[in-house]
Amino acid sequence: MMTCFRHRKGALQRQNGFVSRRVILVIIIVSTLLVALITAGLSMNAAPPTAVAKTPLNIPTLIDSRSHDGPIDIEIREGEHEFYPGVKTKTSGYNAEYLGPTIKMYNGESTDIQFTNNLDEPTNIHGHGLHVVGKIDGGPQNKILPGETWRVTIPVRQQASTNWYHPHLKGSTAQQVHSGLAGFYLIEDEHSQSLGLPNTYGIDDIPLVVQDRTFVDGKMTPYPTNNMPEDLREDTLVVNGTINPYAMVPQSFVRLRLLNGSNARSYEFYLEGEQPFYKIATEGGLLEAPVEITSLKIAPGERNDIVVDMSIAKSQRVLAKLLPQSYNGFNAVLIPFSQSQSVLELRVDNALEALASELPKQLNTITPYLEKDVEVERVFELDDMSINGQQMDMKIINHESKLGQLEKWTINSGRHPFHMHGTSFLILSMNGNPPAPEDQGWKDTIYPNGTAEILLKFDYEATEQWPYMYHCHILEHEDMGMMGQFTVK
Ligand code: C2O
Ligand code: CU
Ligand code: CU
Repeated sequence: MMTCFRHRKGALQRQNGFVSRRVILVIIIVSTLLVALITAGLSMNAAPPTAVAKTPLNIPTLIDSRSHDGPIDIEIREGEHEFYPGVKTKTSGYNAEYLGPTIKMYNGESTDIQFTNNLDEPTNIHGHGLHVVGKIDGGPQNKILPGETWRVTIPVRQQASTNWYHPHLKGSTAQQVHSGLAGFYLIEDEHSQSLGLPNTYGIDDIPLVVQDRTFVDGKMTPYPTNNMPEDLREDTLVVNGTINPYAMVPQSFVRLRLLNGSNARSYEFYLEGEQPFYKIATEGGLLEAPVEITSLKIAPGERNDIVVDMSIAKSQRVLAKLLPQSYNGFNAVLIPFSQSQSVLELRVDNALEALASELPKQLNTITPYLEKDVEVERVFELDDMSINGQQMDMKIINHESKLGQLEKWTINSGRHPFHMHGTSFLILSMNGNPPAPEDQGWKDTIYPNGTAEILLKFDYEATEQWPYMYHCHILEHEDMGMMGQFTVK
């Protein structure tokens, strides 16, 4: 079945090269009609950006590793979640009906967690963004069978950052994440806590996992496992498992930790009226300084922390445009895109104490890697559901990296967000240009839509038995084999 998809796609692409003008014209007319039709159908479920938000935002339970004795217990289980009040959908979650708790960890300390798999299928837990050895990283080699418990001690040796955990078995990642398996790992350090940034969890420091789902009569459509799509893009935004939510916030700066937890969709976030906001962090840590922007694109797997100034408004709406993943491909016209939907309405509650009323000018010090120190160069071509012409083979190690050696990776990728395990990188260039100020931070996922050059090194070991992965973070592509593995010694 999967092979079938690949063939179909290949055929379309070859055809693409010599379609006549008339055919193109017909395609444009038909696609315009389709988009209009789909848009009309869309409004049934998707909240138009002006609809009043009625549901309070679901905030995942916080588990602070410091105020926890013994290992943190996480049960991986099936659940029933109400996306729309009164209508239950079969889902999965970590200690929850859908999604999982936010686990807060501290640089320099260790966090002990035990995950028990009470699903009736194997799963595993990958710490996306963690700088840990391959064995703890939780790649596809690491299976937790039904009824089994995986106990892991995470030595936290990295700066304050927004990370996440999710399943990573080859072939079932897309379906398991879609059913609700995802949660935040927040890392704190003394430096970030001394800055006076908004950091009261759920009050002025709010994690937001943004996903797209389809609903019929209020019920989430389950993952189409017997007819796996090439990439799943759906029409309704779901934020922490809530649709069109609001949150009561103090009249001061509010930090939103945006995680694109969608299977395949990218978003462009902005504030109503194109109001400015600040980007303060990329995946691996704080930027050197807040960067004022008015819109922000986030691909699957990426995280960005932003700060919204609520001292000047009574309410403010965060919106997202749903971007197409492929701009030129045939399927782009068949799915709704460039739609805006409400992510979250922030409403000032004057009873809440204003906590962060100033934003520090300097947030972090980032010592850049120098290109002249590069010892190894690698190129990654993402195309045709493979990387460098190869599909993921659990028995093949695609390359070997050396501990502590500076590498330059060139990523040639059209519509594929690229992610690697075990470290964070800095961008050297994006499509021939130096990275924009808001992209000059530590990252682990990148959506070049062209060519990106990145600099990185690995400080932890990944053996043949427990290698690291690099892959496309469109989960369907990852499942189909757009992934490779490497060791670090
Ligand atoms: Cu978020 Cu290898 O994954
Ligand atoms: Cu990862
Ligand atoms: Cu891809």
